Amino acid sequence: MYGPVEADFRRRLDDRYAGRRKKSLALHSDACNYMPGGDTRTATYFDPFPHYIEKGEGTYIYDVDGNKLLDFQNNYTSLIHGHAHKPTVDAVSAQIALGSAYTAPFELQTTLAKLLVDRFPGIELIRFTNSGTEANMHALRIARAYTGKAKIIKTEGGYHGTTDVFEASVDPNLKKAGSLDNIKVIPESRGVSENALKDVIVTPFNDVERTKKIIEANYKDVACFIIEPVMGSAGQITPLPEYLKAVRELTERYGILLIFDEVVTGRLSYGGAQELYGITPDITSLGKIIGGGTPVGAFGGRRDIMELYNPRKKKMYHSGTFNGNAVTMAAGVATMTAYDRKAVAYVNELGELFRSGMCALVEKLGLRIQINGTGSLFNTVFTDKPVISYRDMATSYEGLNQLLYMVLLTKGVFIAPRGMFCMSTAMSAEDIDFGLKMTEEALEEMRPVIREKAPELLI
Ligand SMILES: Cc1ncc(COP(=O)(O)O)c(C=O)c1O
Repeated sequence: MYGPVEADFRRRLDDRYAGRRKKSLALHSDACNYMPGGDTRTATYFDPFPHYIEKGEGTYIYDVDGNKLLDFQNNYTSLIHGHAHKPTVDAVSAQIALGSAYTAPFELQTTLAKLLVDRFPGIELIRFTNSGTEANMHALRIARAYTGKAKIIKTEGGYHGTTDVFEASVDPNLKKAGSLDNIKVIPESRGVSENALKDVIVTPFNDVERTKKIIEANYKDVACFIIEPVMGSAGQITPLPEYLKAVRELTERYGILLIFDEVVTGRLSYGGAQELYGITPDITSLGKIIGGGTPVGAFGGRRDIMELYNPRKKKMYHSGTFNGNAVTMAAGVATMTAYDRKAVAYVNELGELFRSGMCALVEKLGLRIQINGTGSLFNTVFTDKPVISYRDMATSYEGLNQLLYMVLLTKGVFIAPRGMFCMSTAMSAEDIDFGLKMTEEALEEMRPVIREKAPELLI
């Protein structure tokens, strides 16, 4: 499957990686006795075996083998202030000493709810969950309850968590995915219910005409249109100016509720992507940063919709042993209070610094690589074509991103294997410089592999 240059490069890279991670290998081997493949979160597994982390501090994580890594992954964008942010640690320590779960409401829930309602234009009332997946499940349920319809429209490549209906056409094989005019709904995993997928309609991101046709043909059955305003796991694909606007107009016109999944994009401005792009959805789901590094999710929206969950009205039921958990609320309040407008501007400036540095670097090295993204997030994509939809991403050399990830790991820089870089407020311009310098070295090292595998990416 690999050409001879790449096969040799990968062999030497794996040796370099493994040679400095003997304790990690021992821990991984032990874990394999108790968890399938030693793993409990597929996104953290990678070949030849994952590193084991001892601690995180500010911008760095330290593995058990003594390797120090500058963390541009930040737990897949969930740590807006980096690791062990002092005000968050203090708030959590104080709260856990007072108990962590009461089976009764307490003031911190209202404090975090108010913080979020004040920030996000589309949220008038909010409820907490334990994950972004759960937030989207309940956003979908309330959309169905409110509209009396069952189907959902999602974008091809859009990721909304791990429940059945959302595990549709997240990363489909293009050979099976049909034409753009007739996109087939492909289950992302074995075990996903084919019956559940009958409720799903998939549309191409950034394609106003096709999206319009799909809405016009199906609106009588469709409860909601769920979309990440910037498609994150598909490669930080930003919306064309007219696209979100058209989606908002069409959903409104045809009685479909618009759900913005802002689990990741909530960090992009003070009021998330909805504030950044000036589009107000009916329902918003949140997660990641709002829990200050603890498990969290939330969904909120228009008052008339969210009132369905008012327990006095006995129309809908939403429970969860750890919803609005005290430790999560304490961490969330400390983190989101510190993520004020100044902090948002700062972290976005860092993102801009890195992104523009990357564009200059790619030019200097004579490479044709796309740098997607906005604000504090970006994604490298090994293709010579602009990336505006999932299919552009799926036809890129994704294996080169995974290679970049491994090379950077051996140079003390941690990114996501899909090529995603994420800034935190703990970072400084020096960290960006270091990231750029290591990426330059990594891409230089990879040049022979790129020449063999994707010569069109070399100028
Ligand atoms: C856009 C988006 N929505 C939902 C989720 C699911 O969140 P969780 O992993 O907390 O269930 C994620 C997770 O990465 C995400 O990126």
